[in-house]
Amino acid sequence: MAKKVETLLRQWDGETVITRFDHATGAWIFMAIHSTRPGPPVSGGTRMKVYPDAEAGLQDALKLSTAMTMKLALAGIAHGGGKTVIALPPDFDPAQRPTLLRTYGLLLKQLGGLFLTGPDVGTSPEDMNIIAETGYPYVFSRTPEVGGAGDSGPGTAVGVLAGIRATCEQLFGCDCLADRRILVQGTGSVGSALIDMLCQAGAEVLFSEVDERAIRRWRDERGLPFIPANQVYNTPCDIFSPCALGGILNPQTISRLQCRAVVGSANNQLTSPTEAQQLQEKGILYAPDIAVNIGGLMSIIGMEAEGWSRAEAFERVSRTVDCTLRQVYALAAAEGLDTHTAALRLADHRLMQARSKNGGALFMDWR
Ligand code: PHE
Repeated sequence: MAKKVETLLRQWDGETVITRFDHATGAWIFMAIHSTRPGPPVSGGTRMKVYPDAEAGLQDALKLSTAMTMKLALAGIAHGGGKTVIALPPDFDPAQRPTLLRTYGLLLKQLGGLFLTGPDVGTSPEDMNIIAETGYPYVFSRTPEVGGAGDSGPGTAVGVLAGIRATCEQLFGCDCLADRRILVQGTGSVGSALIDMLCQAGAEVLFSEVDERAIRRWRDERGLPFIPANQVYNTPCDIFSPCALGGILNPQTISRLQCRAVVGSANNQLTSPTEAQQLQEKGILYAPDIAVNIGGLMSIIGMEAEGWSRAEAFERVSRTVDCTLRQVYALAAAEGLDTHTAALRLADHRLMQARSKNGGALFMDWR
């Protein structure tokens, strides 16, 4: 383990990792602080799930924290990026969950506002309530009953919808979704909100899911075509929208894809940056995840820290994703870059602007 951890940390371009082993449960807490500029504070979700081993959890935290810095820059938020992974052991006892969350909350409190968190894969607004019992006020997205802005899924979906429209405009010269065939992978809090919006806009929606209950809901109750996991990559569609876990775009899956574009909310969709070129060579337009999936953090931070109404937050998310993706596509075309590289360039540019002339405002105006 020691050697692997050393390699991981040497290869990472971030600042600090705060590590805690919870003896009571056997869980590891890895809080990766990628960048304290333009913050502090540093913002990032808390991901909680079983990993094959502790290193895999650490590796995920590092990768996700780097993406957070870029996402916050693209969202125009003057916070640094970070991420916490709580890596659960395979035999984790769910009854221990609240205690573990309170232990984590206490750590946030001890850090005194260096790190602000919100939900991510495996955590919910109800979990944020529990974390806030010990970690208040450093917790976003608590439930509305206790004064939080609630689930970040709908806000993320609003951004994905704007990303799908901007991508259709780029591909087909029209952002209308009527009869566009869109395959949504994952029907969690983002995927399900997105499916509703797409159906309302008249799109032909297909879905893929592994959870039996969710499959029954969307297939049997809502009548949507279900695509089994082993067919998700070679099902013909206009837009493939990965809204589950990352790491799904690799040479094998890309060679099977039969879509015109990939536009989804999953964090770190590419297994490595070179896959962006492979997609491009195949004639598939890739809407970079760091530009598409900012809607959750942007709407929640806007509502909770700046007092935006939900309508205003969603409107700002739509505009930001639309404008950012257009800039990404234009930059990629002008400089002959793949879209992932173009999005990173744009994020770097906005970070530099934020550092030099933000003047203390939380939300930057980078246009
Ligand atoms: N899961 C969110 C993301 O990856 C993190 C987040 C949600 C942060 C809500 C703050 C508030 O973007």
